[in-house]
Amino acid sequence: MALCKSTPNIILIGPMGAGKSTLGRLLAHELNWPFYDSDKVIEQRTGTTIPIIFELEGEAGFRRRESEVIADLAAKRPMVLATGGGAVLAADNRRLLKESGYIVYLYAPLRILLDRTVRDRNRPLMQTADPAARLKQILTEREPLYREIADLTLETDHGSAHASARQVLRLLGLKSRSPL
Ligand code: S3P
Repeated sequence: MALCKSTPNIILIGPMGAGKSTLGRLLAHELNWPFYDSDKVIEQRTGTTIPIIFELEGEAGFRRRESEVIADLAAKRPMVLATGGGAVLAADNRRLLKESGYIVYLYAPLRILLDRTVRDRNRPLMQTADPAARLKQILTEREPLYREIADLTLETDHGSAHASARQVLRLLGLKSRSPL
């Protein structure tokens, strides 16, 4: 969906380590729009962390909570939303996200994503004996889903988050409040 007056939302999708939260915060700041990070909202609502939700309720429990949060956030206007890497797995989430804003897919190659996530204890899906194989499998499964709903694909392996923010704002014809 193209950005127009009735749908002034920017929604960031992409795998763990792509930089969705960093870019999202920056865009929201420049636009003076609210910023939401679906993982953070889940943590606020439950009063606990993502790893503990995975431990107590499994991935299925986490996905249920993620879908609830996405359904609530999708009704807000205007906002910048950073989604969790697996938010695109459910068809309902993809439909809601697509209907509620302009979707930016942050792409980075496997080796960079691995480098950014391999030591992070807050990402339960990466707590495995072979994180490279896990990430490869995740990307194979999700890449077509990211592409299915993306209005714009941004490569994040070179250049700064500021450069990416500038690019998004320029492509959408939005004005930033400070020179980035
Ligand atoms: C997940 C990504 C995480 C978080 C959870 C599951 C995934 O978010 O939602 O650990 O399935 O890829 P980030 O993409 O912000 O790391």
